[in-house]
This record gives sequence, structure tokens and C-alpha cells, in this order.
Amino acid sequence: MAATIISGKDVSAEIREELKERAARLKEKGHAPGLAVVLVGEDPASVSYVTAKGKAAEEIGIFETTIRMPGDSSEEEILRQVDDLNRDDRYDGFLVQLPLPRYVNAGKVINLISPDKDVDGFHPVNVGKMLRGEPCPLPCTPYGVVQLLVRGGYGPDGKHVVVCGRSNIVGKPLAAMLIQKRKGANATVTVCHTATPDLRRFTLQADILVAAMGVPRAIKADMVPDGCVVIDVGVNRVPDAAAAKGFRLVGDVDFEPIKEKASAITPVPGGVGPMTVTMLMMNTIEAAERKAGLIS
Ligand SMILES: NC(=O)c1ccc[n+]([C@@H]2O[C@H](COP(=O)([O-])OP(=O)(O)OC[C@H]3O[C@@H](n4cnc5c(N)ncnc54)[C@H](OP(=O)(O)O)[C@@H]3O)[C@@H](O)[C@H]2O)c1
Repeated sequence: MAATIISGKDVSAEIREELKERAARLKEKGHAPGLAVVLVGEDPASVSYVTAKGKAAEEIGIFETTIRMPGDSSEEEILRQVDDLNRDDRYDGFLVQLPLPRYVNAGKVINLISPDKDVDGFHPVNVGKMLRGEPCPLPCTPYGVVQLLVRGGYGPDGKHVVVCGRSNIVGKPLAAMLIQKRKGANATVTVCHTATPDLRRFTLQADILVAAMGVPRAIKADMVPDGCVVIDVGVNRVPDAAAAKGFRLVGDVDFEPIKEKASAITPVPGGVGPMTVTMLMMNTIEAAERKAGLIS
């Protein structure tokens, strides 16, 4: 039987409705939630991510400003912008869109962001809090994966989750979230990477398999056990002469054959992708609620 498709668009829409109500409640209390996005240069992928963030904020009722800086901005100018935003009361949260120009030390920029306003959840203080299971903004993509699982009816509690990929923005934080001793987590987690010998040996043991590798269709059908829940984080451009742009997007899993084996699977696009922006909005609303004293 073909797998159920877990729609990130649908789950996203459900969360955005809830966020609209929370934004309205904040405004009633005299606190309009605000988000700033710093964009350095004009990298097309970054421009499209930033545009999506602005649109989502508008839809939810978050006051949003995109601050565009020239592509040759110095590290000092970017740090000064961060410092200004840390002190600007109009914004409950902000982010600096990555990647930054190569000569800029991105770590230094992230470290300067006030942890209270770090809606990407990348600041070391927030990474530490996440690991300890304390309230904090959670990195948006793995947070979106957890929400997809829980709200989609595939809660990770008691399950063996195999995560392929150990990056600081997806694999590692996802593992840290899933091992927490609480409902909606409580998973046994295996994290695989390029030094994992015989990846298939591990993926075949998964109740839930998450692919975050950045390698088109790396996970093949013979690596997936029957009835597994498959979450595809990958977004890869592959050449396609028939497509208007000359490429199309595919994930890290070989979708067509795997959907015949899995019990549920996320598509690419329309799976994890829409969740990332939605969780940024969630972090912004939570930062505003914290500042307004509505949550701790
Ligand atoms: N949907 C979204 O919103 C969203 C957000 C972020 C990322 N993504 C996508 O998710 C994918 C991963 O992103 P990322 O930033 O985490 O990538 P990344 O920084 O390149 O990390 C990839 C990870 O996968 C591991 N890996 C690569 N090839 C492997 C293989 N053959 N076997 C086992 N492990 C392997 C690497 O292992 P090593 O550590 O050993 O090198 C690394 O840990 C990309 O396609 C990216 O575009 C999507």
C-alpha cells in the first residue's frame, strides 16, 4: 500500500492559523510582534527565503522589516547592524540570513545576537538550553520536523529515529530535541554521517528515518524498512531540461519507490520546506510573548 503523504503545507497552515490568533492577542495587549531580517547581498536563494519570511510574517500579523545590506558590506558594518537590532525595541526577534560573504565570520555575527532575540536558535546560549531541555528558540528546520511528526500523528515517543546528517542546523539539533525526556520527544536516536560504515545497516533499523544529507536521492528503497515513516529534509537542484528554470528540486530520498514501502513520507517540495518558515514565525511569536510576560 502506498504511503500516506505528510503535507508540510497543511501542517504549516494549521500552525499559522494558531499564530495569527496569538499575534492578535499580543496586539490587544499593546505589543505588536516584530521581526527583522538582515539580507547581505543578492544571492537568489537567500532572496527567495527572505521574501517567503516577509510574506509569512505579513500573513500572520507580525510587523516585519527586511534590512538589505550591500554584498560587499564589511564584517564591522554587519556587526553594527546586529548591535542596533539588539537594542531596537520594535523587534522581538531578528536573524541574519546565511550564508554571509566568505570574508565575514558568521560565528562572530551569530554570537553577537542577543539570545532573547535569536529567532533562528543558533546562538550558543540557546544551543546549550536546547540540549538541557530548557525553554528557548529552537532551530527552525529540526523544530519543523518534530512538529510534522507530532501533528501528523507520528509522534517519536518510544520510537527509534535514525537521522542521516549531523550538521549544526539540522541533524545535531534534531537529535538533541528528540532525546529530551518529554512527550513529543522521548525517542531513541541514532545519528549517521559520512564516517558511518554501512549506512544501510542503521537505516534498516529505523521506525522513523530522517534524511538531511544534501545528496540527491541518497536513500534508496532497499535502505528503508517496510512501514517506516520517512522525513526528507533534503532540497537539491537537479538539471531538468523540461523545467522552465532548467532544474527541479528533489530530496535526499528516492521518493517514488520508497513511497511504496514506507507507511508515511514527506514530499519535496511541500514537506519540511514550508515548516521551516512557519517555525521561524513560531519563535518570533514566542519571543514576543516572553517579552510581554505571557510565557516564561
Ligand atoms: N527544507 C529546509 O528548510 C531545509 C533547511 C536546511 C537544510 N535543508 C536541506 O537539507 C539538506 C541537509 O542540509 P545541511 O545544511 O544539514 O547539510 P550539510 O551541512 O551539508 O550536512 C550534511 C550532513 O549529511 C552527512 N552526509 C552527507 N553525505 C552522506 C552520506 N553519503 N552518508 C551519510 N551521511 C552523509 C554529512 O556528514 P559529515 O558530517 O560526515 O560530512 C553531514 O553531516 C540539504 O539538502 C539542504 O538543502 C533544507
